[in-house]
Order: sequence, then C-alpha cells, then structure tokens
Amino acid sequence: MLRAFLLPAEDEALTEELQALSAAELATRCAEGGYQEVPLEELERYGFQGGHAEDAEEAARSLMAERGWEHRDEVHITSATPQAALDKFSPEHFHDDDEVRILSAGEGVFDVRASNEAGAPYLRLILGARDWISIPPGRYHRFWCTGPMLCSAIRLFGENPQWAPIYRSEG
Ligand SMILES: [Fe+2]
Repeated sequence: MLRAFLLPAEDEALTEELQALSAAELATRCAEGGYQEVPLEELERYGFQGGHAEDAEEAARSLMAERGWEHRDEVHITSATPQAALDKFSPEHFHDDDEVRILSAGEGVFDVRASNEAGAPYLRLILGARDWISIPPGRYHRFWCTGPMLCSAIRLFGENPQWAPIYRSEG
C-alpha cells in the first residue's frame, strides 16, 4: 500500500544498503527515523498524484480515460535486469512528459521533489502491487527497484512520448 514520507535533506544519498531493503523495511526505516508521513490525499498539494487501486488493469483504464491517452506498455524488472538499465532510472532526472506508472506486481520506490525549487525536499513514495503514481512533466524524481528486485509496471503514454531522461547534472 502506497506510503509517502518527507525525506530529510541529509538522508538523500541512495546507497546500495538502502536499495537492498524491501519496501516494508524501507517504510519502517522512514517511520522509525521520524520522517514526516504525508497522507495520500495531500499529495496533490505537491503537484502530483498517487494512490492504491483494487485492480491494476482497472486503474490503468481509468487513468488513460482521464487523460485521453491510448498508449501503454508494461515493463518488468527482475534480478536478471542489467545494471545499466537500472542506472537509467536511479539518478535524479525529469521528462518532458508525464510519468504515469501502475505497479501490477512487486514493489519500487519513487523519490519525487516536492517542487523544482532549489533545496526542495524529496517525497519518498514506497509502492507495492496496485499502487500508482503520476509525476508531471519537468518534475525531478528518481526510481529504484527494492531489494527483492521484482517490479512490473504498466506505463501509460500520451502522444509522442519523449522518454529521454534529462538528468539533474545536465539540467
Ligand atoms: Fe523518470
């Protein structure tokens, strides 16, 4: 079930040890670390959306209908996924298009900046199966697959999606 925490600036380092944790372990660490938990109904205050759905397919259809989108695919991350592929998602970046994802299985983590202003904190969004997120164009974020290395995600596209990430260091 999707949970969101405000990440203290001093804890932004994405270490191997952190990435080895499961979603449940990571949520426990955030809670025990005193990170402020953000109720899901307050996510829109930060300009993005996320939630938990009873059914991933139904959520995909609903999100596509809301946006008038017709394109989708599904990606699968496992322990066999090359590190080079994972390394595309984990450095901070943004896209020129919305990033809308519904987890059909497994778990993963999006750190999404609360805004694009300098010094804005990350919101750490810990996703499990049937959780979804919609990040607007231009918003800095990063993603990693948790320690169990199992994540299947339905990706939704508008017209002509430009998926090239623009990294913070290039922006
Ligand atoms: Fe992205």
